[in-house]
Amino acid sequence: MPRVRDLVFPRRERKEDRRKERWHRDVLDEVFDRPTLLSVSRMVTAGQFQEVDFSVSTGKEANVFRVSGPQGFRALKVYRISNTIFRNLPPWALVEIHREVGGSSFQRMVYAWAHREFTSLKRCHEAGVPVPRPISQLRNLLLMEFVGEEGLPSPPLVKAVIADPEGLRKEVADASRKMVKEAKLVHGDLSPFNVLYHQGHAVLIDVGQVIRVDHPQAKELLRRDSAHFARYFTRLGVETPPETLFTEMGGDLLP
Ligand SMILES: Nc1ncnc2c1ncn2[C@@H]1O[C@H](COP(=O)(O)OP(=O)(O)OP(=O)(O)O)[C@@H](O)[C@H]1O
Ligand SMILES: [Mg+2]
Repeated sequence: MPRVRDLVFPRRERKEDRRKERWHRDVLDEVFDRPTLLSVSRMVTAGQFQEVDFSVSTGKEANVFRVSGPQGFRALKVYRISNTIFRNLPPWALVEIHREVGGSSFQRMVYAWAHREFTSLKRCHEAGVPVPRPISQLRNLLLMEFVGEEGLPSPPLVKAVIADPEGLRKEVADASRKMVKEAKLVHGDLSPFNVLYHQGHAVLIDVGQVIRVDHPQAKELLRRDSAHFARYFTRLGVETPPETLFTEMGGDLLP
């Protein structure tokens, strides 16, 4: 005689559900440790959002959530404090953060990293580069505009079907050029993973590792970024020589 709950939840599914639930709980426990929860509650008290709705992405060292409140949807990027090894953080940024923190307190370095992404986002936004509008930053939390449609996040280029590759190529090149010319920054990790496809347009994200244009490595990094995109656009059928794209992306403006 089967038990009632076996009928309601077939045994196999229950096991799978439990596995998923446990995974979810483990991830949330890891992300929302005590100091992070306190920071979240401070943001909530300050009226910046009311609820954490769902997880948009679980990255290597940060998680992104959709949050909501009276002002609508927003994106909350949470840099994880535990088991961060700054894998995503290239040496030039690590050196700066180390200097800023004046020691190697793990927690303070993570906070400085979030702060670095926030100020870079502000600089890009003010320069007119298409990036999510930065809203606020507190310790390891970064609150910004939610890039999405009808409550769902816009996909990165790698997961999107591109309607006008030629137009998109121009947009990506212009965005990078503006970043170089007006914000005096090179993205440093620009790829089809870090550009969202929003209502047919490109929005650049993930600016935690930007580098100033006068840094000795800036040129090399822009060359790498442009090579990624040259390959990507050529695959989409828009023949793109890397050297041409490098120039369009602001390579000719670098010292
Ligand atoms: N403002 C935003 N609005 C909507 N979705 C966003 C926003 N910012 C980030 N995302 C989503 O979250 C994902 C991860 O964001 P981001 O690249 O900034 O974090 P990350 O730590 O570098 O993650 P990863 O390690 O996966 O690269 C993005 O690919 C995108 O899908
Ligand atoms: Mg990323």
